[in-house]
Amino acid sequence: MNFEFALPGKIIFGPGKISETGKAAAGLGKKALLVCDPFCVTSGLAGKVLKHLDASNVKALVFSGVVPNPTTASIESGVLEARKGKCDVIIGLGGGSSIDTAKAIAVGASHPEPIWNYAIGKTPVTDKTLPVIAITTTSGTGSHCTCFSVITNPETHQKPGMGSPYILPRIAIVDPELMLSMPRALTAICGFDVFSHGVEAYTSNASNPMSDMFAEKAITLCSQYLPICYKDGKNLEAREMMALADTYAGIAICHAVVSLGHVVAHVIGGHYPDISHGDALFTIYREVLVFNSKSKPMANKHGFISRSMDESSDGIGAAFDKFFADFAFEKKLISKRPDSEKIGRISKETFTYMKGIADLNPVAANEDDVKVILEKSLR
Ligand SMILES: [Fe+2]
Repeated sequence: MNFEFALPGKIIFGPGKISETGKAAAGLGKKALLVCDPFCVTSGLAGKVLKHLDASNVKALVFSGVVPNPTTASIESGVLEARKGKCDVIIGLGGGSSIDTAKAIAVGASHPEPIWNYAIGKTPVTDKTLPVIAITTTSGTGSHCTCFSVITNPETHQKPGMGSPYILPRIAIVDPELMLSMPRALTAICGFDVFSHGVEAYTSNASNPMSDMFAEKAITLCSQYLPICYKDGKNLEAREMMALADTYAGIAICHAVVSLGHVVAHVIGGHYPDISHGDALFTIYREVLVFNSKSKPMANKHGFISRSMDESSDGIGAAFDKFFADFAFEKKLISKRPDSEKIGRISKETFTYMKGIADLNPVAANEDDVKVILEKSLR
């Protein structure tokens, strides 16, 4: 057995811990760029963070141009702000889109080439990357403790994940009180993302005994607490446990990566940027699980996943149906009615710019397999 394992930067976890942002930033720089979406500004959350920064004598600018499925254009606008303001620390405040944008700005502001070159691995990300603080307000995408930033290029319809240890947030602030106001639909799509991170890290060909420990715990916590968060969003204990699941799953994918489910969902997102990551995942996931449960070496792990969803169901598909029966997902891809040409293109692209990750799938898949998964998912 051979593996390497590095724990992420400092994690500051607990209700009210957003108040430690100033102290955290003061240890990393003198001028911060606070990266968030417009809602963080109108809701007053950005103002709260600015006060904490001011109390620790950290100057700050706000970039509130974060968009869902962060685009190269939105990131480049943030890069310009960071350069103009001579910022030396980047703070991502919000869900995965804000944190991924902050990571990408940290690269763009400290490197000479357009961000896309780093996103597709044409040019390596270096240790010149500005330090990142991630304040997560959702559970979540795990982005606060991963070395990935997902970037969409609307011109090429590609949505790769830029991966580098230098973009791993130096400090992650996980304050479950910030998650109490998550609407039900967001709780479902973000919670499903956590579940899928746990599943894919657990069953990926890159998994190791330590990543398994984090992935297993993430799956167990999701199965226990996601339904509670969905029904009762104000339940702080359940929100805390889902924040923990999100953190564990993030650490797991940072080492064991993801596999087929995420690759197909990313390709779908590249073609349909208005479909959320969690909704794209949910739409195809039952069929991905059924396909992957054919893996003999991973049989025990798929048994664990199946039992976590439902102890008594016969097979992983039935367990999935039962566990998620009370959740409402949009499954927006179905309403898009992709024709056979589009399905063919998505299947083909699964094995192009993210082939390395698709190859981590526990069952070797090809274009025809993905076509079948998509066709069954769209019925
Ligand atoms: Fe994800």
